[in-house]
Amino acid sequence: MSNNGKQAPRTALLGFCIPAMEALDKVGRPFLAVVPPEFEAYMQEHDIAHVLWDFSRVNETSMQLSKTLQERGVEVAVPLFEETVEWAGAVNGFLRDDPRLFTRYLLFRDKAMMKRRAQMYGIRVGVFEEADNREDVSRFFKRVNKALSKLDSDVADPVHLKPLAAAGCVGHRFIRSEQDIAVLQDDEFPCLLETHLDGQEFSCEVFIHDSKIRFLNITEYVHLGHSNFVPASPSLEERRPYVRKAVEELIDAFGIQYGMIHPEFFITSDNKINFGEVAARVPGGHIFELIEKAYGFSPFVAFAMCSDPATTDEELAAYLPDERQHKDYAGCLMVYPRQKIVTRVDVPDRLIADDYYEKHALFQPVTPKVAERAGFGDHYGTVYFRGDNSARMRDLLLEYEQVDFYTSDAPAAS
Ligand SMILES: Nc1ncnc2c1ncn2[C@@H]1O[C@H](COP(=O)(O)OP(=O)(O)O)[C@@H](O)[C@H]1O
Ligand SMILES: [Mg+2]
Repeated sequence: MSNNGKQAPRTALLGFCIPAMEALDKVGRPFLAVVPPEFEAYMQEHDIAHVLWDFSRVNETSMQLSKTLQERGVEVAVPLFEETVEWAGAVNGFLRDDPRLFTRYLLFRDKAMMKRRAQMYGIRVGVFEEADNREDVSRFFKRVNKALSKLDSDVADPVHLKPLAAAGCVGHRFIRSEQDIAVLQDDEFPCLLETHLDGQEFSCEVFIHDSKIRFLNITEYVHLGHSNFVPASPSLEERRPYVRKAVEELIDAFGIQYGMIHPEFFITSDNKINFGEVAARVPGGHIFELIEKAYGFSPFVAFAMCSDPATTDEELAAYLPDERQHKDYAGCLMVYPRQKIVTRVDVPDRLIADDYYEKHALFQPVTPKVAERAGFGDHYGTVYFRGDNSARMRDLLLEYEQVDFYTSDAPAAS
């Protein structure tokens, strides 16, 4: 991989992400990668234009990153990971001389701020509140149930509790009773409390240029964090006009002009759409890979194109396909060992023989002891499926969610 040609890169990719670099390289879009110092050797070895940057440093130093990138000819920063989103806001705000860009990006990093902003623009959200301590949680829980006219003898409606800035369900709890509140630890505060949102959950991956939707993908969640596929099944796709309207409202509410967003919504049977959250970076769940297979374009390239105000309508139209013209359904299963000790990968023959089976990337366990899991994102590997029928896709994902994929040869402990 090499992009050290004569053309100075306009685009800076924030974060170390090999698929993103490969995708841009493949279409001949020069880029500068801004990566944490531990990736220096890799960047040198592969001769990739780069700047080393520690994204965990406090934001007062962002000016320096902005200036460095400007000196290198960069015009646009594209955030690849959650930790780099506010840096992209700072850099783009500086490069475009628009300080409000930074404060808008900050909204993406605080779930309560994000909800409040959405609510102020009339988007459907649950009842929510920030909590600083257990008393706040108790009061919210009681008031919500009082508003629902619950009697003391009724089963209380649960509320969700989650950290203000986290992803992959880390720290997410259901509060069902006073006992659940009593066991909360001091380090879980401050946090966000929210009433339960009804409906089928899904995500969108929206490519936006000049505040207009240029491509809208809908990802169907079979089981959040375990299985999903692209595009969504017909029962969800046929409600695309409602989804599109919800996304347009979000773009308007958050003042998004360029780039990509990954919102999560819940849609009810009567087509009301509840807003869950929105991120402004590459989604998890291998969704970019699935979009690429289902539609035949690279979402990384689309993200870089849409992030750049100089990209023309013609370029976008030439690169992005028709939303209704998918090639296949592409799905994946994220595998977490169910046992505490695993020694080898065990893929059933009937899976390999299935015409929807594409490939797997299951890690051979390095140590037999399975790591304790906090949230999603650290699955042991992925099984990919591909085929032309969404119902069969869903059935297969559900079926193989029940399979272990890992066995232990270790003698049973005596
Ligand atoms: N208020 C809510 N109502 C229903 N489900 C919720 C609610 N809050 C969170 N969840 C569930 O928990 C998941 C994780 O919460 P989310 O706010 O998306 O945080 P993150 O993805 O950053 O961990 C959601 O995808 C959804 O399935
Ligand atoms: Mg989420």
